[in-house]
Amino acid sequence: MTDRPYVIEPMISAKAIAARVEALARDITAHYAGCDRLVVVGLLRGSFMFIADLVREIDLPVEVDFLEASSYGDASHSSKEVRILKDLRGEIAGRDVLVVEDIVDSGFTLSHVTRLLQSRNPRRLEVCALLDKPSRREVEIRATWTGFEIPDEFVVGYGLDFAQRNRNLPYIGKVRFTE
Ligand code: IMP
Ligand code: MG
Repeated sequence: MTDRPYVIEPMISAKAIAARVEALARDITAHYAGCDRLVVVGLLRGSFMFIADLVREIDLPVEVDFLEASSYGDASHSSKEVRILKDLRGEIAGRDVLVVEDIVDSGFTLSHVTRLLQSRNPRRLEVCALLDKPSRREVEIRATWTGFEIPDEFVVGYGLDFAQRNRNLPYIGKVRFTE
């Protein structure tokens, strides 16, 4: 299916993303006011662009760490199996942890990752997701902060891929197959 021809239809512009990221960072900065123990955890690979822009706008001392979980092969099908491919480098016990995710779809990835991180006894654990497809949810989970709610479309760009392609687009677009 990944070699079917498709076009990418723009959905959220780079300018709209930048404005939303700035607003999210303002809320996050206010929420963690006075905190000097914030660890921002990016879920690889999809959140790399979002976390880079988000931390630049957070006006607090932060540490950045990464975790890679996988519930997808190279196609756009969800699975309930979540594997940790790369774990955090740092300890999070007693720390304020902000998990940064590209998109919440079925919710399996986020629910697995938050359960794993909670078991390490952080002081507080919150989630900031750039995108949310609430109509696709299979397990109940909500991010503390969400950038945009979107309909049930497969989207790419700004870090998100389709079969590892299109992560470098500066905007978010939906995949439309032409055949
Ligand atoms: P969930 O476990 O079903 O919530 O899936 C979350 C993960 O699936 C995200 O972190 C993405 O990597 C991937 N994903 C879900 N929907 C999309 C999409 O529309 N475009 C690209 N990746 C997606
Ligand atoms: Mg992901």
